[in-house]
Amino acid sequence: MNADTQKFSSLPPEAAEPKAAAGAFPIWVIVALAVVAYFGTVKFDESDGGFSAQVFAPYVSTKQLEDFLPKDPERIAFLEGRKLYSQNCAACHQASGLGSPGQFPPLAGSDWVKTEGPNRIIRLVLHGIQGPIKVNGLDFNNAMVPWKDNMTDQQIASVISYVRRNKDWNHTFSAVTPDQVKKIRDTEKSRTAPWSAEELLKLSDK
Ligand code: HEC
Repeated sequence: MNADTQKFSSLPPEAAEPKAAAGAFPIWVIVALAVVAYFGTVKFDESDGGFSAQVFAPYVSTKQLEDFLPKDPERIAFLEGRKLYSQNCAACHQASGLGSPGQFPPLAGSDWVKTEGPNRIIRLVLHGIQGPIKVNGLDFNNAMVPWKDNMTDQQIASVISYVRRNKDWNHTFSAVTPDQVKKIRDTEKSRTAPWSAEELLKLSDK
């Protein structure tokens, strides 16, 4: 027995080998975690982090849905005209109304659009236009198809109103009614050829 062994053997037996034992986990940590989780969830829900009502439960009735639709008749007509424009006209005249140089003339700021009366533009949209035309001093010599067979009086009135009243283009000219289109359509029923700019300029815009 050397000196060390002697020293250990003199200690009380339980202290000779230290043991790891499960200590009690402090209960307040569990409570604090639960509180944080609860208020965190409440906060998350409040800020629509869960299921946004706008996405997941938008409309409880058709009435509520209708309330979201525009009411102002001017606004409704504008939206209708804009839709028709993007479907039928924007391919050439562009959404911006600027057209494309040497090929498709601009509508934004066009002296053919900015007339006091709408009759020339009604005519050229109904029957199309072909040949040399000057738009804001620039020369074009191309052709636009007639729209009379593809668009109703109502649609032509809407799209022309959009073109004449588009605020983005600073246009504030009179709107066109379906009756105005119908009148010209009826009186020029027998016409089959597209207009030329020269012919149109001889007729009044009013
Ligand atoms: C396929 C191409 C094309 C489409 C689509 C088209 N246009 Fe045109 N538009 C032309 C061309 C080309 C001219 C000039 C014709 C010429 O050179 O004589 C023109 C001329 C005009 C003009 C007179 C000139 C001017 O710039 O102000 C107006 C107004 C017009 N178009 C309105 C419309 C409207 C409204 C629509 C939609 C319903 C439409 N166009 C769709 C090609 C098109």
